Amino acid sequence: VRTQALDELDTMSDLTDLDAWRIQYLGRRGALTQVMRGIGQLPPQQRPEVGQVSNDVKTTLETAFDHRVDVLKQQRLATTLAQERLDVTLPGFPVSLGRLHPTTQILREITSIFAEMGFQVYDSREVESDLYNFELLNIPPYHPARDMWDTFYINERVVLRTHTSPGQIRAMQAFHPDPIRVILPGMCYRYEQVTSRHEMMFTQVEGLAVGENITMADLKGVLENFARRLFGDNRRMRFRCSHFPFTEPSVEVDMDCFLCNGEGTGCSMCKESGWLEILGAGMVHPQVLRNGGYDPTVYSGFAFGMGPERITILKYGIDDIRLFFSNDLRFLEQFS
Ligand code: PHE
Repeated sequence: VRTQALDELDTMSDLTDLDAWRIQYLGRRGALTQVMRGIGQLPPQQRPEVGQVSNDVKTTLETAFDHRVDVLKQQRLATTLAQERLDVTLPGFPVSLGRLHPTTQILREITSIFAEMGFQVYDSREVESDLYNFELLNIPPYHPARDMWDTFYINERVVLRTHTSPGQIRAMQAFHPDPIRVILPGMCYRYEQVTSRHEMMFTQVEGLAVGENITMADLKGVLENFARRLFGDNRRMRFRCSHFPFTEPSVEVDMDCFLCNGEGTGCSMCKESGWLEILGAGMVHPQVLRNGGYDPTVYSGFAFGMGPERITILKYGIDDIRLFFSNDLRFLEQFS
């Protein structure tokens, strides 16, 4: 039994065959077990010897079996390693790099320009109370100016902010009584019919400076410097009278049209006016300063609000604002 079993074991190259072998010799009905079971029927003098020999054979077979299993496992590992070896000289698959969203890119550009002028970023909330989004900005309930911002209401007193201006109050309350120089970038929401010109979500960057002796000239200087840095030295800019309930006086700022160079004739981008509006601004209204905790007889300030998507649209002549949130790679890949 021993010689035969060991010979067979040597020829086996497969783990399933090995298992069959184990059952055949060492299993409960295996050859060796039969011999051992038969010991009881032998004449008493023969029993110790046969018992001794079969135990030896059993140990030998078990050890040989374990050894063979090890050898086969090693072999299998070696073949897998050989077959699945990596050929590092093969050409690789092209790796496609992700890009920053155009809005993220313009936000970073805007932030770094203002950072150089000493403005830090202040984060304000997207879900606002009616109080901060409207009332503390001089827009009481039923004020006709509410029509300027079509509003998503969470409930009667809570809204999705329609502009970043409520952050002015939050920043004032946080910084009081220190002077302030911050920008507040973030998402805004308006209950708009979505068209190529209107989205219900968009980004704004609010700016706020509060201190002693801040004048309209400071506002003009900051915005002019900003526009020069963003659009280049050769563009013209104009300040136009406007109205916002939370600034007095208020202005809107236009750049000469990128498409027709301010010529106007036949231009669809600026509707033949030669000008494109890029932001609203003004001197912080005394009551708004008061609402933020600053005494308007001592302090003054300016504020502005711009739409980065709008600026990107103007800069690249994009004809559909919906492209910004439709995740179309053909659009996004153009901004590397
Ligand atoms: N919040 C105004 C808007 O969304 C813009 C603005 C900001 C105007 C700050 C003046 C001062 O239209």
